[in-house]
Amino acid sequence: MKYQNFWYPRCRLFKNTLEYQRHFEAKDTDLIIASHPKTGTTWLTTLLFAVVNRGKYPLSESPILYQHPHHLVHRLEDVHFREAIGNQLISFSDLNKLLPPRLFSTHFPYVSLPESIKTSNCRILYICRNPLDTFVSQWHFYSKIAKHLGGDQHLKPYSFEDYFEDWLEGRIMFGPFFEHVVDYWMKSLERPEKILFLKYEDLKYDPIQHLKRVADFVGIPFSPEEESEGVITGIIEMCSINNVKELEVNKNGVNFTGVEKRAYFRKGEVGDWTNYFTPNMVERMNKLMQQKLGGTGLTF
Ligand code: A3P
Repeated sequence: MKYQNFWYPRCRLFKNTLEYQRHFEAKDTDLIIASHPKTGTTWLTTLLFAVVNRGKYPLSESPILYQHPHHLVHRLEDVHFREAIGNQLISFSDLNKLLPPRLFSTHFPYVSLPESIKTSNCRILYICRNPLDTFVSQWHFYSKIAKHLGGDQHLKPYSFEDYFEDWLEGRIMFGPFFEHVVDYWMKSLERPEKILFLKYEDLKYDPIQHLKRVADFVGIPFSPEEESEGVITGIIEMCSINNVKELEVNKNGVNFTGVEKRAYFRKGEVGDWTNYFTPNMVERMNKLMQQKLGGTGLTF
């Protein structure tokens, strides 16, 4: 099903979009992680949580060590679903009781965000990733969790080739990918104080610099003392894939949608696509990328 030019699988996600557009009221102090699936949402969630809560918990007692990252924030598209299944964790009215800054995440495209997110002073941290690695990561994840995606209508796992064709057409969850990314990118250029645009690869190659950008953006910059005491490197180490992947809480069990918690942690590398793409696929992807990103100033 296509809504506001983006694709939703025929399942609860679409219903939730409408509920969320209708009922969610953003506050000026809210921080919202936005992303296309499999671009580093889980990683950014832990980093942001650690930055915002560093005064509240010493790193050795951080909830990151005993809660799955997705339970540290509220994913906006799941709120209605949780309410509907009687999940006591949260409902829209409960969100008003949360202390500031409230942390949320969403995969919704910019166009479908509730008006209050666009018009209030809340801030959005958008993470994106090179499309080839995103594709590989999505294909692994969706193959693993295919039976959960269709709600009652369980989907069959995609073949790599079929998923590639759908991907190029944009017929993927929250797709098309490039439109999703470019919309947020353009908005971040217009309103840099409102939207921080991050790239997975930048976080990998220079985590210190980009974690500082996150802290500055949310208005809690690292002090020189914190830097010299190793707070920045401590957060980076705690949130590294090698660390979070091995935490008991992330190794076992399923989340409330039935997806295995460990499915969110695979390799966490840049360039894994080279193990999967044929030269022809690379050429087709690059051609599409040039078409879609040409003139935007955005490169991967
Ligand atoms: P791979 O499948 O390439 O390994 P999302 O969080 O948006 O669902 O994205 C999932 C991707 O981010 C997966 O990529 C996953 O392994 C990777 N990832 C999860 N936690 C990470 C972390 N702490 N550091 C780096 N990458 C991480």
